[in-house]
Amino acid sequence: MTDKVLVIGAGGQIGTELLEKLNELHGSSNVIAADLNNSPAFANNAFEKLDVLDKEGLFNVVKKHQINQIYLLAALLSATAEKNPLFAWKLNMDGLFNVLDLAKEKIIDKVYWPSSIAVFGPTTPKENTPQYTVMEPSTVYGISKQAGERWCEYYFNKYNVDVRSIRYPGLIGWKSAPGGGTTDYAVHIFHEALSKGSYECFLSEHTHLPMMYMPDAIKATVDIMHAPADQIKIRSSYNLAGISFDPAEIAQEIKKHIPGFTISYNIDFRQQIADSWPKSIDDSESQQHWGWRSAYDLSAMTGDMLLNLRKIK
Ligand code: NAD
Ligand code: SER
Repeated sequence: MTDKVLVIGAGGQIGTELLEKLNELHGSSNVIAADLNNSPAFANNAFEKLDVLDKEGLFNVVKKHQINQIYLLAALLSATAEKNPLFAWKLNMDGLFNVLDLAKEKIIDKVYWPSSIAVFGPTTPKENTPQYTVMEPSTVYGISKQAGERWCEYYFNKYNVDVRSIRYPGLIGWKSAPGGGTTDYAVHIFHEALSKGSYECFLSEHTHLPMMYMPDAIKATVDIMHAPADQIKIRSSYNLAGISFDPAEIAQEIKKHIPGFTISYNIDFRQQIADSWPKSIDDSESQQHWGWRSAYDLSAMTGDMLLNLRKIK
């Protein structure tokens, strides 16, 4: 059977790039983009204006296009969620239930839902954070992701729902803008390095965080979704590691390409969120179970980001 894929939140930082990859894999006529608003990124796809909280609307879109797989990307990210915690909880949880229930009722047969390094908290070991460890998230975003992970595993165990998930680190790409997270600085810094030659960072210089270049994240996403079901032994969410660095280190790397580049610091509420997260991640289970390997280190990512941003600016 040909897969018919629905991407909800397709116009966001990840969706924009994931859509391109899914078009390659499935053919663009088999990939439907859904979001609150239309976007030029959907030029090759059918578009459905959809609020994931509208359960009936979601059901109608799934039926109309005979969808069998959903990638659920609609969510409020860490920084935006702190400004509206109750709505963040509602969107991040009810959106997930609306999709998981379609799989429980066997209307669709596979779900992708991303979790985050935000499931970890201040009491988690910070270096090489293992898959299984203390998890006491202190942000509403992290609480919603941790609860989401528990529900994914519950739906797998109780209802045999084929749900797959990754705990993404902070994602960095040149094709799309970040959507309100704590790691957004690592995208903004490239744009401002090119446009102004300087960047004022909202995190302090030694805030070390797990990050990943978008091509690696997209590869991991399609790899986990296309792996045989028996290789996916963790049905909550998998740790995934790419690159770990702090603002001073990425600034140093950018200086190799733009010698006059300067960074200054003006920290805000996002510092507290970042301080509660790990510095680096151990992703042994992803490597062992479904063959994950990242391709980009800090130097390769920086070179590729600047090369591509220079072409489009
Ligand atoms: P984003 O904010 O860039 O995009 C989210 C998209 O969802 C937007 O296009 C938005 O319009 C849409 N959306 C919001 N509310 C909606 C609703 N009610 N119905 C339908 N669409 C709605 O987010 P992203 O960075 O692409 O993240 C996607 C997923 O990946 C989220 O679950 C996020 O938590 C997770 N994640 C992202 C990162 C990262 O660094 N980008 C890291 C870890 C996890
Ligand atoms: N990049 C995301 C955020 O900062 C991590 O989930 O919210």
